Amino acid sequence: MTRPKLVVLPGDGVGPEVTGEACRVLDWLRAERGFDCEVREHAYGFSVFREHGRLLLDEVLADALAADAVLFGAMGGPEYDDVPTPVRRAGSVLRLRMELGTFANLRPAVGFPELADAVPFKESVIAGADILLVREANGGIYFGEPRGIETMDDGGRRGVNTLVYGSHEIARVARMAFSLARQRKGRLCSVDKSNVLESGALWRQVVTETHAQGFEDVELSHMLVDNCAMQLIRDPAQFDVIVTTNMFGDILSDGAAAIMGSLGMAPSASLGEPDGDGRRHALYEPVHGSAPDIAGRGIANPLGAIWSLALALRHSFDRAGDAARIERAIRNVLGRGVRTADIAGDHQPVGTREMGDAVLAELAALNDASDAASPATAQL
Ligand code: IPM
Ligand code: MG
Repeated sequence: MTRPKLVVLPGDGVGPEVTGEACRVLDWLRAERGFDCEVREHAYGFSVFREHGRLLLDEVLADALAADAVLFGAMGGPEYDDVPTPVRRAGSVLRLRMELGTFANLRPAVGFPELADAVPFKESVIAGADILLVREANGGIYFGEPRGIETMDDGGRRGVNTLVYGSHEIARVARMAFSLARQRKGRLCSVDKSNVLESGALWRQVVTETHAQGFEDVELSHMLVDNCAMQLIRDPAQFDVIVTTNMFGDILSDGAAAIMGSLGMAPSASLGEPDGDGRRHALYEPVHGSAPDIAGRGIANPLGAIWSLALALRHSFDRAGDAARIERAIRNVLGRGVRTADIAGDHQPVGTREMGDAVLAELAALNDASDAASPATAQL
């Protein structure tokens, strides 16, 4: 294998703070675990807009396309009110996912017993919950045309978006979700709104057809999205892998993250189709976004970003052992009561840097241990 290449885009808001901690873990992997990787960091987001009038420069996109993986921080914030809509759309993380062709956005949510004091659910509800939500990320209503805000003849205005899915878009994300389910508990729940939407009816048909094309060993169920929202709260442990549309996945993944007490915990991996050499584009990002209210204060939770790095090691760099080691370190740190403000529970909160320090100390302690079992996602 040629020297793997990682592009880091810290972005806006708390993005630089949390990716900074993930990069310290990366430095540790390079120093202690022999992970030889070329890392290139680029400016992205509002700081780039101020200077260049764009959020995402062409050369940055080209570098991301040439990389084995992109580690992304966050985009957005109140200053985006000054960014014209076309500029925002041309440089958003949605566009990045589209340009990279990373159509499957994997969002794990795990009910950690270590976090029981910080989670707004009874321990018995989150016990055993280990969900992998697969969100379609290149299509649906976030990309459909026509779209826009138009003025009508009577002077009234209307906003238009289009929810459209082609069968190939549904089939490819379904295949990815079935493959993942096969390496976990073997259960896939497909979530749609087929009782109202034609695109939802097609979604259900195509997932069912895909199931019959070589995935019969996986147990498939279907659920309506409104019911799924309720089931995720009522009994999250019933799910293994969930596959759903772009917008439903956006919404349900925030809801699923509640079993971890905070969006700050939630990681994600966006994966594309492998090419002939088995190489695929991949984008790794914490789900929390830019969190402008706490940006620059050194209190953001870096665990979503650090866990996203673990997903990169597993899905892009063939280092499942190191991924599991990082996931184990995260759990141990939580179990010791080291907590940022968003998951403080009964504990005195620490800052972003202290949380990074605690993970690094735990990694050093685990370095020779052989029992670093993964709490979350399956290996593709
Ligand atoms: C997410 C975010 C983004 C999305 C926004 C910031 C465009 O909400 O990653 O879930 O909708 O995908
Ligand atoms: Mg979201």
